[in-house]
Formats: sequence, C-alpha cells, structure tokens
Amino acid sequence: NKNIHKKMFIFWFLRLILGLYNLTNDHFNILQTDWLNLNSFKEAFGGKSAKLTNSIAKTSCSFHSLSPKEAQVANSLKRLIAWPKTLSLPPHLSLSDTSDPAHSTFTVLPNERGSWFVGGQLEVLIKMSDFHGRPKTCGGDFLLARLHNPTLNAGVAGRVFDHRNGSYTAVFSLLWEGSAHVEVTLVHPSEGVAVLEKLTQEQPDRIYFRSLFRLGSAHEMTTCNICLRSSQRLCDYTDLSTGEPWFCYKPKNLSCDARISHAKAGFRVYLRPVEEKLFQSAVNLKVSIPASGPAHVQVKKTTQSSPSGYYYQGAWRSLDGTTVHQFNTITAISQCLKNKALHLYGDSTIRQWFEYLNQSLPDLKEFDLRSSNQTGPFLALDYANNILLTFRSHGPPIRFRIIPISNLHYIANELDRVVGGTNTVVVIGIWSHFSTFPIEVYIRRLLNIRKAVVRLLSRSPDTLVIIRTANPKALTLYETLTNSDWYSLQRDKVLRAIFKRVKVKLVDAWEMSIAHHLPHSLHPQSPIVKNMIAVVLSYICPKTENL
Ligand SMILES: *[C@@H]1O[C@H](CO)[C@@H](O)[C@H](O)[C@H]1NC(C)=O
Ligand SMILES: *[C@@H]1O[C@H](CO)[C@@H](O)[C@H](O)[C@H]1NC(C)=O
Ligand SMILES: *[C@@H]1O[C@H](CO)[C@@H](O)[C@H](O)[C@H]1NC(C)=O
Ligand SMILES: *[C@@H]1O[C@H](CO)[C@@H](O)[C@H](O)[C@H]1NC(C)=O
Ligand SMILES: *[C@@H]1O[C@H](CO)[C@@H](O)[C@H](O)[C@H]1NC(C)=O
Repeated sequence: NKNIHKKMFIFWFLRLILGLYNLTNDHFNILQTDWLNLNSFKEAFGGKSAKLTNSIAKTSCSFHSLSPKEAQVANSLKRLIAWPKTLSLPPHLSLSDTSDPAHSTFTVLPNERGSWFVGGQLEVLIKMSDFHGRPKTCGGDFLLARLHNPTLNAGVAGRVFDHRNGSYTAVFSLLWEGSAHVEVTLVHPSEGVAVLEKLTQEQPDRIYFRSLFRLGSAHEMTTCNICLRSSQRLCDYTDLSTGEPWFCYKPKNLSCDARISHAKAGFRVYLRPVEEKLFQSAVNLKVSIPASGPAHVQVKKTTQSSPSGYYYQGAWRSLDGTTVHQFNTITAISQCLKNKALHLYGDSTIRQWFEYLNQSLPDLKEFDLRSSNQTGPFLALDYANNILLTFRSHGPPIRFRIIPISNLHYIANELDRVVGGTNTVVVIGIWSHFSTFPIEVYIRRLLNIRKAVVRLLSRSPDTLVIIRTANPKALTLYETLTNSDWYSLQRDKVLRAIFKRVKVKLVDAWEMSIAHHLPHSLHPQSPIVKNMIAVVLSYICPKTENL
C-alpha cells in the first residue's frame, strides 16, 4: 500500500511538472484549459504535502513598500480585521476536536419585557461544540445569522459577537410585525479559518497567471503574479502612476515588451488531509446549527437599528435614510437614467449589473466592441434617452480567461480619465479576485482607488460614486480555498473602512445576500440583483415616486 502511494505520488508529481511544462511552452490555446483538477492534487499530495512544501521555494510577494503614511493606515486596517486566534493548528490536528455544527446549538434568549416589539432587538446565544459534543473553549468560528419570515418574504442579517470562549451572541433588529425565524450557519470552524489564514501566508500564489509574449513568429508563455517563488529574471509591469505591482518571469528569448495577453492559468494548493476535512459540505462548510428550543418569536407592533436594510415583500428597504424606490417598468428605469453616463468598473459581480441593465432596457443597445463576454469592455447606448453605459474590468490579479494587455486597466487610472459632473455615475465593485493574496495587496489597491475618487470628487463634486460591497457565495472546497466568505468578509471590512469618510454611496451586497432567502451565490440571482439595481437607481434618482 505504501508502495502504491509512492508510485502514485511520483506519477502525479511528474504529471504536474509535465503539465506545467506544457502550459509554459505550448501554444496559446492551452490557457483555455484553465484549472488543474483539485482532485488530482488531492490524490497526488495526500499525506505528502509537508515534504513537497519543503521542496518548494518560499513565495515572496512584492508589494513595493507603501509610503509611511499608507503603511500606518494598513496597520490600523489589519487591527480592524484581526480574527480571534485559534489555538495554533497542532501538527496532529484531529477533525473530532474541531467545531461541529451538528453538536452545536443556539437558543433564543428571553428578554426582560417577556415579549418582542418592532424596533427592539432579539438576542440569540450560540454554543459551539466539537464532534465529541465537548463545548469549545475558544472563539474564531465564522458564523452567519439571519432572521426571516418566509410568508412575508422578509429577512434581515444579524450581527454576531464572539465571546472568545466557545459561545457567541447573535443580535437581530426586529423590523416587522409577526413571526420571525432565526437561522444560524457555521460557514467555517475556527480551525478552518486558521487554515485559510495559513494558506494566504504560505501559498498566496495558489491562483497563478500567465502571459503570452510574441514577436513575429516567436512566442513564449511565462508565469506572472504579485507573489512569485524563484529569483529568475523578472519583467516588472508595475504601474507607473499607481505603483500597483505586477511581475512575470522574463521569457528566455523575447523582451519584456513582447507581452500581449494576460490570463488566469490555474490553481494549485497543498493541504494536509485533515485540513481538507475542515471544509466538507453538509458537515462543517456552510451548515445550519440546530436550535435547542423554539427558533422563532412573535414580534408585536409598537423604530432605529443597525443593519443597513431588510427585505419586506421581497423588496429591499434601506435603513440608512435612503428611500429605495421600485423601478418596475422599462420607462421608470430609462426615465431615471435619461441623460446619464454610467461607468461600471470591477469584477464579474459588477459586470452582472451591466448585463442586467442591458437586458432590462430594450432601447439600450450594446455596441459590439468585439470583446469577450467575460472580460469586456462593454459599451451600450440609448440614443433617444441619451444614456451611456460602460463596463470595464479591473486590472491584475483579474482571474478572467484571456484578456489583451491593452485592456488591462487599473480603476484608479480610469477614474483619472473621467470628467465627471451631475450626469456622471461611477460604480465600482472590486473584491473577489483579491481573496488569495495578503491583505496588503487589497489595501494598496483600494487606497489608490480612494485617491482617484477623491481627485474625481474635487474636480467634479457632483459626480455620484457608488461602491458595491462583497457578498457571500456558495462554497465548495475549491471555492473555499480560493474565495471563502471569510476572505470576502475580511476584505469587505477593509473596503468599508477605507471609504468611510469619502462621499460615496454603498450598495450593501453583503447584507442584501444574507437577508434574502435565495441561496448565497457569487453572482446573486436576479431578484437580488433587481433589488441592488433599485438601490443604485434610488441613489441616482432620489426624488422618483414608485412607478
Ligand atoms: C503535453 O502536450 C502534449 C501535446 O500538446 C500532450 O500529448 C501531452 O499529453 C501533454 N502532457 C501533459 C502531461 O499534459
Ligand atoms: C463566555 O463569555 C460570555 C461573555 O463574557 C459569558 O457571558 C459566558 O458565560 C461565557 N461562557 C462560558 C461557557 O464560559
Ligand atoms: C529560444 O531560441 C532558441 C534558438 O532559436 C530555441 O532553440 C529555443 O527553443 C527558444 N526557447 C524558447 C523558450 O522559446
Ligand atoms: C446585451 O444585450 C444583447 C441583446 O440582448 C445581447 O446580445 C448581449 O450579449 C448583451 N451583452 C451583455 C454584455 O450582456
Ligand atoms: C459567454 O459566452 C459563452 C459562450 O457563448 C457562455 O458559455 C458563457 O456562459 C458566457 N459568459 C457570460 C459571463 O455571459
């Protein structure tokens, strides 16, 4: 058995090397074959990862040093998102000692008045236990909580407080009259979060990228990233105006100037088998925690609260003072957007908004820029109503398929080219492609974007700038290791802190996804997107009556 294991290991190891060799040297098309199969890695590296990891050169990420002032900002942001430390992962970690949702419970806490009123709060105590049913004594589990009423199609996200002793309190605002059901979900056990944290430190290059270089008939492909492992010669593509770092290994025969495209090349990760067991669907990955007693309360009528909004009859009601209007007809949307130029920048979750508007407004015609439907850029025009809608993806480390170098733009640089004014709306959504990198990479990016937003608003103070936050998504093992909600949550906190004192409007995609009954999805389903667009349109047209 040991022998078979060894043979398999060698086989997969050679396969990996050859596979990578093929990717490096073969023709362009190879890039389209995308992801290496995670299962292959599982088979290949089960039990052997320590050895392998040792033989792999240490990754170093080249952030370029932040200015002393920005480094200070970065440090305070890191303190803001500091996660309770789990007892460090012991070398002989056993799954049975980790948090088990099936053995954990939540209890609705009675309140002093004996009943619940609209405008009040509901508290729920969550007690975590391991697979033996022994109470956990440390914090750090990643929990999400929701209060909802399926009949009213109502829902709101709860705030979860970690007492760092194995118990947690979830607090909900009571916003509607009638029944309210509590739902508590373990996204990751604390030990899982510790693995995710370790992965970012040790394997920030687990998503890797490639570029094609070409001159005449000669072409070569090399690996690119912010974090690279060897000290081979590099091409430095650091952006001159923003200082955003990006590197590729230098092609052997071609110059750095010959780079013509950028693409996501693949994913590789080394996990111990027990670490992988921390992310099992239906076991400990996004699993509901049972209630120890009744999971619902009756709320009586009798207002002020902390969530950013809630759903009622399927429509998002904002609690930050914005009246969210419903834009249920084509005319309502196009009247709101009349004479406006909307520029959308970001990842596929912002592209979704372009797609939604493009699909909703028959008079808005997409002009064929001959770009890929994944990467854009896109441009759509409604001549009669004088509406311009554009989308452009953010710069590296964008994980899209092939994107020509000429379309690889940083948002900050794009914003510097926007004139702005009353009729200009800038919408930014950038989060999901930063999850595998050290937080500094994201902080640097957002600080650059913030500076550009501030410049835009001082040139043209009437410009409306809207920022879309992150959102939770469906998680598998692969999704978890590259893009867990925990990574998104950490980045989302940074995003909100960085833009806190800038005159921008937020679309709280995080809460709008948690509070909704539809499943978490990287690309939220249409009813959620419709609500997000309603918030965007309400920012653009605050005085509209419901139409
Ligand atoms: C490398 O590419 C060749 C032809 O393009 C293919 O036949 C071979 O199976 C590939 N090797 C690996 C290990 O993927
Ligand atoms: C955990 O901490 C909370 C808040 O300090 C406290 O109320 C609770 O009793 C503690 N639970 C245990 C099991 O120690
Ligand atoms: C570089 O050029 C040499 C000579 O033309 C050729 O033999 C070699 O294969 C080339 N290397 C790469 C990586 O393309
Ligand atoms: C925009 O709508 C047109 C017409 O339905 C469609 O062909 C096109 O693919 C859409 N573009 C995008 C980017 O969704
Ligand atoms: C782009 O088009 C391809 C092929 O038509 C389709 O499979 C894919 O789902 C589309 N992607 C998006 C984001 O619309």
